[in-house]
Amino acid sequence: MNTLPIVDKPDIVHHPRKVEQRIVGQATSDGAGVKLVRVLGRSLQQRLDPFLMLDAFGTDKPEDYLAGFPDHPHRGFETVTYMIAGRMRHRDSAGHQGLLENGGVQWMAAGRGVIHSEMPEQDHGAMEGFQLWVNLPARDKLAAPWYRDFSSAEIPEFATPEGAAVRVISGLSHGVAGAVRRAVTEPLYLDLNLPAGSRYAQALDPDFNAFLYVYRGEVAVDGLAVQERQLAILANAEDSDGVAVEAGPASRVLLIAGRPLREPIVQHGPFVMNTREEIEQAIRDFNSGKLGGSSS
Ligand code: CO
Repeated sequence: MNTLPIVDKPDIVHHPRKVEQRIVGQATSDGAGVKLVRVLGRSLQQRLDPFLMLDAFGTDKPEDYLAGFPDHPHRGFETVTYMIAGRMRHRDSAGHQGLLENGGVQWMAAGRGVIHSEMPEQDHGAMEGFQLWVNLPARDKLAAPWYRDFSSAEIPEFATPEGAAVRVISGLSHGVAGAVRRAVTEPLYLDLNLPAGSRYAQALDPDFNAFLYVYRGEVAVDGLAVQERQLAILANAEDSDGVAVEAGPASRVLLIAGRPLREPIVQHGPFVMNTREEIEQAIRDFNSGKLGGSSS
């Protein structure tokens, strides 16, 4: 049935991490009024360094998504948009544009600045996806912007002998390299599609901060249930070598991990820098039209 390649060198985990905390996201709206759930917000930025935000949007009511995210700036971090269902068109100040749909990913490093829009390209049907913000190290916060679009077919995917299907958006899993590899924070971003009752193990560097988000079904981590729409922070322990997840019913889970930057985080809306002065500079640059554009 499954036509995915079955991995021949599975990760082996002897000392899996425990769940440190389970969190339910906050319902909110952003952009011009898109309804979403902020799964990872400011209160977790230090704990889950280098991750700054995770939003989940999922609705089949057009009025919840139609307003989209009109032109807005970013500076100092990376945005990763992963679409499960629906179509979203993005355009930016450097003249790039692309269509994100069903299983596709856009990875954008805003660096010194991007102004872009992210607008639904449908007026009915379901829209579901995630946006993750990954911090950039101080030395890269003013680097030239970079982005890439990946269609669903370009996301490496494999199966485990137990039938779990794993999409490797970034990082390295069971010897399979993801669509994106990033220096310094080395983010691992997996979408796990777990059959009922299956077990999945993933090696993780003990120093990495890691969490999982269950968006369908329910899983157990070290015997503790993590329910649909819960985020579980995976405890860091020196002797741990990964995480083991056991699905209850068929489940889908984002598993995300990265190397912490341990640098000061100062956020003002769409700007994330290291100091107040750098934020004030970003606001001045935006107001004077110097933040976006391909050559500014
Ligand atoms: Co944006």
